[in-house]
Amino acid sequence: MNTQQLQESDRRHLWHPFTHMKQWLEDQPLVISSAQGMYLIDSDGNRYLDGISSLWCNVHGHRVRRIDQAIRDQLDRVAHTTMLGLASEPSIVLGERLMRIVPGNLKKVFYSDAGATATEIAFKLAVQYWHNIGRPEKNEFIGLAEAYHGDTTGAMSVGRTTAFHKPYFPLLFKAHFAPTPFVYRPPAGVKEGASANQVRDFCLAELERVLQQHGRRIAAITIEPVVQGAAGMIVQPDGYLREVRRLADEYEVLLICDEVATGFGRTGRMFAVEHEDVLPDLMCVAKGITGGYLPLAATFATQPIFDAFLGQPWDGKTFYHGHTYTGNPLACAAALANLDLFEEQNLVQQVRQKGDELDILLQNLLPLKHVGDIRRKGLMVGVELVEDKTSRRPFDPHRRVGAEVCRRIRSHGIILRPLADTIVLMPPLALEMEDLRRIVDAMQIEIHRLDTSSQS
Ligand SMILES: Cc1ncc(COP(=O)(O)O)c(C=O)c1O
Repeated sequence: MNTQQLQESDRRHLWHPFTHMKQWLEDQPLVISSAQGMYLIDSDGNRYLDGISSLWCNVHGHRVRRIDQAIRDQLDRVAHTTMLGLASEPSIVLGERLMRIVPGNLKKVFYSDAGATATEIAFKLAVQYWHNIGRPEKNEFIGLAEAYHGDTTGAMSVGRTTAFHKPYFPLLFKAHFAPTPFVYRPPAGVKEGASANQVRDFCLAELERVLQQHGRRIAAITIEPVVQGAAGMIVQPDGYLREVRRLADEYEVLLICDEVATGFGRTGRMFAVEHEDVLPDLMCVAKGITGGYLPLAATFATQPIFDAFLGQPWDGKTFYHGHTYTGNPLACAAALANLDLFEEQNLVQQVRQKGDELDILLQNLLPLKHVGDIRRKGLMVGVELVEDKTSRRPFDPHRRVGAEVCRRIRSHGIILRPLADTIVLMPPLALEMEDLRRIVDAMQIEIHRLDTSSQS
């Protein structure tokens, strides 16, 4: 099929995720046909830098020989076998390898295939853990306001975003919400001009208030550690996560860390919890685990949580949860090759260095009239555009300024995707500084153009 036929067929048959389909149908979609390294190549042969790492998951670029070969080798053995009642070699080897890199208190891995399944599993494990140890009343959750944990019902219950999930609110289970420690846009109750530490302390006090009121019914606090991604790349003030851990212990609730976006080097540590030396009770990963190649996710648990599920088959302690493709061997093989490359290239250290250099480049955006805030941790970046910098007044959402800037950046041969009016830069971790500079330059040109167009 040529480009036009592909576009027509797409419009006729497909329904795209997280996409305003009315606008999509009026547009000419970019059809990706292949990729090479950091570039996506469209059906007409045009090349685009993958500035969002194919939705925050690609690590080493595309068509990486080592990962391709690992998948081919596994294909020569077997593509898929079930983990229900059978063990499989790649899932065992990967499990052992993962245990060497996750926080030391996590001793068991439960595989699935998406970020949302990893979090859903953590919620179920938390509730059943308390049930199994004779505390069935502990079946509610605390999440952070505007957190995002995926689009399944449990994930939406704990990570409730009005803009995404409002129609489903009647379906969702009980959760309590603590304010997000967002320094640029602090929650109601924080006095104007508050410092990062003041915002942190206010949010922790509010969290503690929720725990005092509901703690005895709470199974777990769930948090995106260090950076709250989909809410707009909100970087938590130092010390916040550590205090959340302390409060979880004090009020006898589990701590679930959702590292789906932050895990696998993204923030400059293998896992974001390492920034604060925090040991979660349950930890969820997906996205970068296979280098962005194949769907694989994992939920890690401590030994005491695992032990609470041991018993006779008739005791009702078993975790009755599974997915057909749980621990898929091809995905496990990709994950193993991905981890080899992480190690050989000292990639996490590289992310820290590139992050520091990127900070210098991003400084060039700060003077622009409509750049309100720049948030970064490792290679996780959000540039928030505002109509008025002094008052921090956002643009009218109907103008869809973030989408417009990203559309124009595409003409520079770069793919970016915003979160409302926050321009997100989440490149493959192995992207070179030269390419990062190209992306920031394009951002600067197109955001500046917004300055001039808003004057006219
Ligand atoms: C923190 C977090 N949790 C969960 C998810 C859901 O992952 P998936 O899209 O693989 O279901 C995402 C996706 O962006 C995420 O950022």
